[in-house]
Amino acid sequence: MNPNHVVAFSAKPYDEAYLVQASTDDVNFRCYDLNLNSTTATMANGAQIVSAFVNDDLNTDTLEVLAAGGTELIALRCAGYNQVDLAVAKQLGISVVNVPAYSPYAVAEHTVALMLALSRKLPRSYNRVRDGNFSLDGLLGFDFHGKKVGIIGGGKIGRLVGERMSAFGCEVIIHEPINPQPCIDQGFEVVALDQLLMESDIISLHCPLTEDTRYIIDTGAILKMKQGVMLINTSRGGLVDTAAVLSALKKHKVAYLGMDVYEQEGSLFFDDHSSEIIQDDVFQRLITLPNVLITGHQAYFTKEALRHISETTVANIVAFVTQQPLINEVKVRL
Ligand code: NAI
Repeated sequence: MNPNHVVAFSAKPYDEAYLVQASTDDVNFRCYDLNLNSTTATMANGAQIVSAFVNDDLNTDTLEVLAAGGTELIALRCAGYNQVDLAVAKQLGISVVNVPAYSPYAVAEHTVALMLALSRKLPRSYNRVRDGNFSLDGLLGFDFHGKKVGIIGGGKIGRLVGERMSAFGCEVIIHEPINPQPCIDQGFEVVALDQLLMESDIISLHCPLTEDTRYIIDTGAILKMKQGVMLINTSRGGLVDTAAVLSALKKHKVAYLGMDVYEQEGSLFFDDHSSEIIQDDVFQRLITLPNVLITGHQAYFTKEALRHISETTVANIVAFVTQQPLINEVKVRL
């Protein structure tokens, strides 16, 4: 196989179109619309470079198959890298690169779209009007103006959401334990997690999924929240204990839930399951609730983001092939 031939997994036709557009003479993609796991990894046999996406499973078994097949670079087409066992990749001599920011605007805008659609009950009103039902019963919303918005994770996306909610006249507080200065420089109040949980009318998650943040929203965190809080997660499903939130929704403690990510999304999202019986009872129960709005990991999905993902992925690969520094290398934290 041509050494610069890249085997790309989880590549839908729309991904392939953008990857092909971004390709150079040196880099060409063989795309599979299949998740990468220890079984499918054999399809990359002989490929020095493999490209993967958010729900690919780059655990020890997968990485060992890839390494045995000659893979030396994994080019993630996403920012998050929680799906890769970085320590094992390092041991096997595989470098990992990502696309650190493709369009923080896309995710921030989708986050606000979920908030607005939930508060003004747009999915219900859309269905009613199509059915000739113009009753307003059950559609009562609330003003964002004057509400307190708590953002967990004051990075690129979190701060953009903060700016947008400030423009609505909200008071924005941010929990950012690692790098608070950019938040402070933008005039946001940085607070402890407990204060954010106790004071916020709307809570939005924008931190990465790590061992520290897994289930950052669990039963204990929900207990601290205001009655009737709105919870939004466009970050990673594993940040939220979904069963705990379902229970809080039933008790009206959480009054609105917007999710673009789900902890068990790997077997559902990005594919059409409309002819199947979905076996995930928690997910199925959630979608019956009128105050829950779920989108299938589409927050990033804009033309601008797909272009940026493809161009950065190709640049990462060219840097590897030409032995330039890998500026987007993801390294294991010791
Ligand atoms: P970023 O790296 O700029 O910001 C993340 C922030 O979270 C950092 O400032 C970091 O210090 C902070 N953080 C780390 N641990 C924390 C903790 N325990 N509590 C609070 N904050 C903590 O990342 P960016 O670009 O803002 O993305 C945020 C997340 O959005 C990503 O990790 C990814 O999971 C998610 N994402 C979702 C997409 C979607 O389509 N739904 C697309 C792109 C990103």
